[in-house]
Amino acid sequence: MGADRARRGKSGRRGTGVKRALISDIHGNYEALKAVLDDIREQSITEIYCLGDIVGYGPNPCECLDKIIDVAGITILGNHDQAALFDPDGFNPVALQAVYWTRDQLESRGTAPVINRRWDYLGELPRTYCEGEHLFVHGSVRDPTNEYVFPEDVYNQRKMDALFTRIEMYCFQGHTHIPGVFTSDREFISPVDMDFVFQLSGRPAMINVGSVGQPRDGDPRACYAVLDTVEEVVTFRRIDYPFGETAEKIYNTPDLDDMLGDRLQGGR
Ligand SMILES: [Fe+2]
Repeated sequence: MGADRARRGKSGRRGTGVKRALISDIHGNYEALKAVLDDIREQSITEIYCLGDIVGYGPNPCECLDKIIDVAGITILGNHDQAALFDPDGFNPVALQAVYWTRDQLESRGTAPVINRRWDYLGELPRTYCEGEHLFVHGSVRDPTNEYVFPEDVYNQRKMDALFTRIEMYCFQGHTHIPGVFTSDREFISPVDMDFVFQLSGRPAMINVGSVGQPRDGDPRACYAVLDTVEEVVTFRRIDYPFGETAEKIYNTPDLDDMLGDRLQGGR
């Protein structure tokens, strides 16, 4: 998996238009993904970059992965995607049980060509993708797949310094499921309103695009961001979706802990 390679969907586009929808951490939540894709379509945005964790936790890993293969121009490997591929490392028992169930779903649902396409796609995902001043990762610039950068890390000067020295200008990431912007002043800015706009100012920043399928900032709505490469702004979007339906599917799946449904309803 070369660091500079990018996996392109069958019909996904990349790098030619003005706006890119940045989605991350879908986690097998098809209701949330559909709502976000509808919102993207309504804005006539045709380029979608996915920053990883398509699967894991949620009840529809096959539907989400098959859809992402079709619509995403760029997809980055997430730690849960990696866990579906290889023996997982550092997962708690609930997450681990979900990984094994997810792996079984990907392996057993669909025809042989469909199943092979899933594994081929996951197996070739890059860990980073760079487009000019824009770097795309799942976790962080230092450890693209696994490192968390939480809002409270702004108080860890050593960590912030280590991350910012590695960033050329803008690093787009996910993984924590908490949207917001880390500025070079070591501040964390939360997108408090719908359509919160952050102006890229020519100073380095780390931008967390939030989570489509399992938000953890207290707001249960699906979250994603739109990068306008001409105006140099990032707009955070929050989208309503029927999270009760997704939770109900989780409650009806013995291998998925009920807690995974409960947390969707609280956005935590
Ligand atoms: Fe995640």
